[in-house]
Amino acid sequence: KADVESRLSLGEHFAFHLKTTDGLARLGEIVTPRGVISTPAFMPVGTVATVKALYPEQVGDAGADIILGNTYHLMLRPGAERIARLGGLHKFMRWDGPILTDSGGFQVMSLGKIRKITEDGVAFQSHLDGSRHMLSPERSIEIQCLLGSDIQMQFDECIELPAERREVERAMELSLRWAERSKRAFEAQLVAGGAHRGQALFGIVQGGTDPELRRRSAEALVAMDFPGYAVGGLAVGEGHEAMVATLGETLPALPGDKPRYLMGVGTPLDLIESVRLGVDMFDCVMPTRNGRHGYAFTWNGALNMRNAKYAEDSSPIDELSSCPAARDYSRAYVHHLIKSGEFLGAMILSWVNTVFYQELMAAMREAIANGRFAEWAEATKTQIIRQPA
Ligand code: GUN
Repeated sequence: KADVESRLSLGEHFAFHLKTTDGLARLGEIVTPRGVISTPAFMPVGTVATVKALYPEQVGDAGADIILGNTYHLMLRPGAERIARLGGLHKFMRWDGPILTDSGGFQVMSLGKIRKITEDGVAFQSHLDGSRHMLSPERSIEIQCLLGSDIQMQFDECIELPAERREVERAMELSLRWAERSKRAFEAQLVAGGAHRGQALFGIVQGGTDPELRRRSAEALVAMDFPGYAVGGLAVGEGHEAMVATLGETLPALPGDKPRYLMGVGTPLDLIESVRLGVDMFDCVMPTRNGRHGYAFTWNGALNMRNAKYAEDSSPIDELSSCPAARDYSRAYVHHLIKSGEFLGAMILSWVNTVFYQELMAAMREAIANGRFAEWAEATKTQIIRQPA
């Protein structure tokens, strides 16, 4: 595994290499001192320093090059300063590959209680114990540096849709001012030794489903020159069609030589349609959360393992999967575990789904490399995109 110190002493910086394109779909590599990320990439979500119900070894063996962690949750418990004293997030959770951390902008809105947003930042009460906290661009970057994350996100404000255009515009413009402050804070950390050149800070495009607001947001961020750009504020109630349309209007405003990350997305169909439009990175709780709730993603569509029709089904969950659990455990057994609320049911399906998502990304990368993405997408969609049975 990567020796971060020696790679840094050789001067290794964060970099993105675009290897080939197929239509708008892109095959690339993100290079970090902790390892190379093959793109398009899906990042399993490890919100509280664990990809729920999985050992880090399983996540790596599934094919994930990078995982995601959350500023909001980790600042509340166990605390960023504590993780720093314990040697950083990688060492703490035993994952030595790259980690991207979200800034807290989204989670403070969806989870925090009694929020107060000002120009300075967001004051909120913890969803755990009601204790008072605040997040600003400067504090978010400080926390992400204490965690030691490889890809950090600007602090932003993500609003739920539908919303009034004036409100979308206000949040987008505030997020631009917070982007500048996040960048300044990150650069100060580079000077002070709290961050190094192998780490990167991404900007986040906001602007709802309004093409003009999206374009303004993207252009202002590009002028600030980030090493990567996220599209935020999607999959927040607008629906698949509006999401795809907004992506189609936003991505052309971003530079081709920097990675593009679609935050918090999505279903297998969302991923295929977004890669088709040129997205390089994703994260979503869906494979693990839906797994804990009894859903299996398979190469023959999604299965609801709670369904009584599996009670005496001795066939495997997915014989086409490379995941041992998908081939070795019967549907009847997993149905029983899930119905009984057993931990092993959640563990099996989280593993099956994490492998499925990584296999899906690997298949997309191969299709792009072979110049067959459109054909592959049509064939795959009819095979796997079914409503959960
Ligand atoms: N996760 C999903 N959407 C968003 C967003 O708009 N901003 C941030 N910071 N995280 C997200």
